[in-house]
Amino acid sequence: MQHDRRPAGQRVRLALVGFGYWGPNYARVLNDLPDAELTAVCDRSADRLALVRQRYRAVTTCASEAELFARDDVDAVVIATPASTHADLVRAALERGLHVLVEKPMALDTDSAAALGRLADTAGRVLMVGYTFLYNAGIRKMKEYLAPDQFGRPYYLHATRTNLGPIRADVNAVWDLAPHDIAIFNYLLDAEPQWASAVGTRVLRTDRDDIAFATLGYADGVVGNIHVSWADPNKVREVVVVGSRRRVVFDDLSDDERVRIFERGVSVGDAIADSYGEFKLLVRDGDIISPKVQPSEPLKNQCLEFVESVRSGRPPLATARFGLGVIKTLVAIEASMRSRGAAVDV
Ligand SMILES: NC(=O)c1ccc[n+]([C@@H]2O[C@H](COP(=O)([O-])OP(=O)(O)OC[C@H]3O[C@@H](n4cnc5c(N)ncnc54)[C@H](O)[C@@H]3O)[C@@H](O)[C@H]2O)c1
Repeated sequence: MQHDRRPAGQRVRLALVGFGYWGPNYARVLNDLPDAELTAVCDRSADRLALVRQRYRAVTTCASEAELFARDDVDAVVIATPASTHADLVRAALERGLHVLVEKPMALDTDSAAALGRLADTAGRVLMVGYTFLYNAGIRKMKEYLAPDQFGRPYYLHATRTNLGPIRADVNAVWDLAPHDIAIFNYLLDAEPQWASAVGTRVLRTDRDDIAFATLGYADGVVGNIHVSWADPNKVREVVVVGSRRRVVFDDLSDDERVRIFERGVSVGDAIADSYGEFKLLVRDGDIISPKVQPSEPLKNQCLEFVESVRSGRPPLATARFGLGVIKTLVAIEASMRSRGAAVDV
C-alpha cells in the first residue's frame, strides 16, 4: 500500500539507505539542506547505525529497508548502498510511493533500468541517478567552453579515472568507475554513443576486471576514450575534449586550475590548387586560459536539485532515461570486453 505523500512545495522528509563510505557525505549534506529534513537512516550494519545515532540525535535509525519504506514520515529516499542492491531497493521504494535518488549505476542490466524508469513514470515519482560530476562546477564550466561557435567541431574526448581501489566486491572497475565518464561525455555532447569497443584485464587476483580501456563511438565520427583502473598508484580524475578550435581540460584534483582552455586547434581548409585530394590544414594558435570556477560542493548541488525536483515536479538533469543510456553503454562495454575489443552496438 502507498502512503499519501506531502503535497508539492512543502518541506521534503528524506531518508538515507546506506551509511558506509559514501553515505556519511549524503547524511551531512541532507541534514543541512533548506526545504528538507533528514528523518531516518537505514543500514544493515549495527555499528554503522550506532555511528548515525552518535552524529545525528534527531534521526531515526533502522536495519531493514522494509521498515524504512513503511514509515509515514518519509517522502523521498537516497540510496547509497553497493551497486548490486540498487535495482531492488529502487523498485521497493517506488512501489511505496517514495521519490528516489539512487547512486550510480541505477541497475546492472538494461531491462531492470528501463522497468524502473517506467515504474517511476507510472507512480508519478522522481527517479534521479547520482551522477555527481554533472553537478561539478568544473564540468559545468567545461560545457560553457564547448559552445560550437567557440569550440568548433568536436573531434574526440578522453577520460582517465585511476587510483588504488577502492576495490568493489560486487562489480568490476567498469561498472564502478566508468558511469561517471560516460555520463560526463553524454552530458557534454548532448548525445549517447552508438557503439563501444573495450578491453579489460585482471591483475589483482579478483574475479573481475580491475583495469579497462573503452572507446565509445558517437555520431559524426566523434570518439570518446575512457581509461579506468583500480591498480594505478597515480590518482587521476581528468577529462579532455579536443575540437577544431580548442582543447578543454578538466582536472578534478587541481585546486587552482580545475579547467584549462587551450585556444588552439587544427581544421581542414580548402583544397590545395593543382593537388588532387590534398587540403590545407588551418592551424589556430592562441592563449591558454584558466577560468575562475566558483567553488561549490557537487554532492550538495545534486541533492538540492533532487529536493527541488520533488517539490516542483520538474525533472532533474540525471533522469532515469539518462541513467538508462549510461547502463546500455556499460552493457555494450562488457560485451565487447568478453570478445576482446570487438565493436558492440549500444
Ligand atoms: N558519486 C561518487 O563520487 C561516489 C563515491 C563513492 C561511492 N559512490 C557510490 O555509492 C554507493 C555506495 O558506495 P560505498 O563506497 O559507500 O559502499 P560501502 O560498501 O562502503 O557502503 C555501503 C553501505 O550500505 C550498507 N548496505 C548494504 N546493503 C544494504 C541494504 N540492502 N539495506 C541497507 N543497507 C545496506 C552496508 O552495510 C554499508 O554500510 C555505490 O553505488 C558507489 O558506486 C559514489
